Amino acid sequence: MAASIVVTGAVGGLGPALVRFLVQRGDRVAAIGSPGSADRLRALQEQLRPNCIGIAMDVNSPPEWERALAQIDKELGAPWGAALLAGGYKGGRPFHETDEAVWQSMLAVNLETARRSLQALLPGMVQRRAGSVVAVGSQVIERPWKGAGSAAYTAAKSAVVGLARAVGAEVSKYNVRVNAILPGTIDTAANRAAMPGADKTGWVSPESLSEAIGFLLSDASRDISGAALPVYGRAG
Ligand SMILES: NC(=O)c1ccc[n+]([C@@H]2O[C@H](COP(=O)([O-])OP(=O)(O)OC[C@H]3O[C@@H](n4cnc5c(N)ncnc54)[C@H](OP(=O)(O)O)[C@@H]3O)[C@@H](O)[C@H]2O)c1
Repeated sequence: MAASIVVTGAVGGLGPALVRFLVQRGDRVAAIGSPGSADRLRALQEQLRPNCIGIAMDVNSPPEWERALAQIDKELGAPWGAALLAGGYKGGRPFHETDEAVWQSMLAVNLETARRSLQALLPGMVQRRAGSVVAVGSQVIERPWKGAGSAAYTAAKSAVVGLARAVGAEVSKYNVRVNAILPGTIDTAANRAAMPGADKTGWVSPESLSEAIGFLLSDASRDISGAALPVYGRAG
């Protein structure tokens, strides 16, 4: 079933692989990136036209969502699916030494982006009685000791998953599903640069993660809502 699907965080480390996977299987994708990513979005759109449109916007802005959804409805059709990849990571210091700015930014880029995206997308899906949304948590939710040194990120991602699962229970009666995935370390260029000496055998490839998200954004998962799916690769 080809569908119109929104992907936020579309030109981060994971996003382009997911957008490509969805377009290659026949979906039409609105690739949403931050206001600073217009050039990268344009390049992705060029590669995948006509089934991908790039939209540069702040997903924490309701008026920008209103404009984006009007464009998506017109150019791709009303969204049936959404993958909420927008997020960010800051760590490296214990919580008792963490700046207020780091705490606020982890809430803004992780929890607030998920909240604003759900608030923008769900009313239309509920009205149409059709939809599937995937939020992105992290392995730190099930393995909080791995969040030592990044407690603000761990708290924000835990809240994202709690929000997604509670909302999933609210909207399932309208044939709208909300699930979360919990990635282990993703094999991105940024992680390779940040951890040059790390053993990468347990890292998850963007392509493999894209297939897991693609399953949740397909009719094959029609009876799954409120799940938090671990995708830890071979990290055990
Ligand atoms: N990488 C990992 O190992 C890993 C592990 C577990 C979970 N995750 C999660 O998986 C998701 C994808 O990971 P990733 O590595 O692709 O992350 P990423 O490279 O940091 O990409 C996230 C993207 O979200 C965008 N973004 C943040 N706030 C936004 C806003 N308000 N409006 C619009 N765009 C916004 C960022 O824009 P800018 O480029 O302008 O900052 C960035 O391009 C994230 O939620 C991440 O937290 C990642």
